[in-house]
Amino acid sequence: MLNIAVFASGQGSNFRAIQEAILAGNVRNATIVLVISNNSDAGALELARSYGIPAVHCSRKQFQGDEEFTTKLSKILEQHGANFIVLAGYMKKIDSSLIRRYKNRMLNIHPALLPAFGGAGMYGMHVHEAVLAQRATVTGATVHIVDEEYDRGPIVLQREVNVSPDDTPESLSKKVLRIEHELYPEAVRLFAEGQIEIDGEHVKVLNAR
Ligand code: GRF
Repeated sequence: MLNIAVFASGQGSNFRAIQEAILAGNVRNATIVLVISNNSDAGALELARSYGIPAVHCSRKQFQGDEEFTTKLSKILEQHGANFIVLAGYMKKIDSSLIRRYKNRMLNIHPALLPAFGGAGMYGMHVHEAVLAQRATVTGATVHIVDEEYDRGPIVLQREVNVSPDDTPESLSKKVLRIEHELYPEAVRLFAEGQIEIDGEHVKVLNAR
């Protein structure tokens, strides 16, 4: 059983997509036990409350140092029995000790086809601006395992969308987000059903839909 902690800083539409897939019975053996945000105003926290899911605001700013902050995060995760982490628009760096503790059990979604358009500065609208600036004809979304190399962890699933000549960063972000809402629940389903085999950097998806 996946007991998922979702980390989110923003509106939480990916969190919603996963939760709805669980409620609809499309993702079994998984439950979201907690949503954590660094941002007390995050729509994701509001959304969590509306689902009756514990919503916790926990920010580095509330602590003296990184270590204290990470210790608190770990405690919160333990208290809620989280054994899996889903980053869904979480805008802060995760400490490597936590990444190691949740090795192969921490996912992220990125709004492009990694390794393209990933890395430093590639977040939010910057990603779509870069795609258009490079005149790429295809972009998409990537779900990957989080390791200590930013945006570089093993790829679990990717899906493409076409870039049309009249796309703007905003229209592209909407198109990609729609794809994300299919891809992320699907990735969680595969983990929940034990359909993912990880061998170092290599991810084998046993039964994709
Ligand atoms: C998504 O585009 C995701 O790829 C990126 O942050 C955004 C989060 O959107 N990591 P939402 O808060 O899930 O709506």
